Amino acid sequence: MAPHREGSEASVEAMVAQVEKHPISTILIIIAMQTEALPVVNKFQLIENPHSSFPKGVPWIHYHGAYKDITINLIWPGKDLTFGVDSVGTISASLVTYASIQALQPDLIINAGTAGGFKEKGAAIGDVFLVSHVAFHDRRIPIPTYSTPNLLKALNLKTGKLSTGDSLDMSPHDEASIAANDATVKDMEGAAVAYVAELLKVPAIFVKAVTDIVDGEKPTAEEFLQNLAAVTATLEEVVTQVIDFISGKCLPEL
Ligand code: ADE
Repeated sequence: MAPHREGSEASVEAMVAQVEKHPISTILIIIAMQTEALPVVNKFQLIENPHSSFPKGVPWIHYHGAYKDITINLIWPGKDLTFGVDSVGTISASLVTYASIQALQPDLIINAGTAGGFKEKGAAIGDVFLVSHVAFHDRRIPIPTYSTPNLLKALNLKTGKLSTGDSLDMSPHDEASIAANDATVKDMEGAAVAYVAELLKVPAIFVKAVTDIVDGEKPTAEEFLQNLAAVTATLEEVVTQVIDFISGKCLPEL
């Protein structure tokens, strides 16, 4: 159970401390694209919840299941009702994060997905990053993230800062802001998930797999599509390793 926000600040802190002493039992995985989500759904044999508590008519899909001692919830924001494409970007990410925390009270959020990487910062196609810091590149407010040094060490992942905006491409303004954020990876949801998670005091971690090199020669959309299938397979493997590591542990052990 995640902490509720009633009562004095002291009682909230006491509840957080209490939660941190118990093994993680409920996780919420947020994945924006169907292609990214389905390998994880299949791996853990998650099933769609036809009675999710989401408002009637929204395209958001709730998959759930049990793995070891963990209840896994995976939310895919579904297809945009007007355009029929995946509901990527910060607006859907914020909404589903908010609604899912309210409905599911997770102990931990994992935002997993693909990202563009900067080769100048050491990113290569297929790398998977456990993100150390999150920021928006079109909104200059930094957001704290939950530190997971043991997870990082155990999985031997790369780490770097993530910058989030609502576009796959990169305008000159975005480029300056991403450089100011010192980002190694760039996505379209992470900072939105981080913002809502921070607001509701649920720890969140970010697992981002590189499909395209932003400061490389190839056109982003082309390179993204070329690498999507292989990289999402890698992403599923790393998400599985993360969940295996989490199993049986309390938050401070991550
Ligand atoms: N997801 C995958 N590649 C991306 C990029 N270059 N920018 C934003 N999100 C991405």
